[in-house]
Amino acid sequence: MTKPIDWTLLRTTALAVAKNAYAPYSKFRVGAAALVDDGRIITGCNVENASYGMTLCAECGVISELARSGGGRLVALCTVGNDQPVTPCGRCRQLLWEHGGANMLLEVNGEPRKLSEMLPVAFPEESVFVNPEAD
Ligand code: THU
Repeated sequence: MTKPIDWTLLRTTALAVAKNAYAPYSKFRVGAAALVDDGRIITGCNVENASYGMTLCAECGVISELARSGGGRLVALCTVGNDQPVTPCGRCRQLLWEHGGANMLLEVNGEPRKLSEMLPVAFPEESVFVNPEAD
């Protein structure tokens, strides 16, 4: 039997990492914590920019940390903003899709929901893989 997901740990980790957010413009401090399929927990916080549009969401930090720390597949993710639960924005759902897939779980209002439910009919990465037979 696979180990149950420790949502409490993910939430407390997300709350802790949100303290490191760089959010001088929105003052909305976001933290995200994810479980990887090898058992490690990775985190991210939002990093804003004076350009506004170049702001990095907390989930972007998670994806970057996933690659930096050795890759793997995302199993579950919890995001908080100003100490309250939040759901990842649409752009981040697409980012998460590529590294977690349809069965990845997001905590939504205290309940785990599949990413396929949170991003129906997602753009699949397979559709852009180049045909190796093509020149
Ligand atoms: N933000 C995140 O970090 N993740 C989300 O999923 C939604 C929004 C950040 C971006 C910006 O720094 C602040 O929250 C307000 O939108």
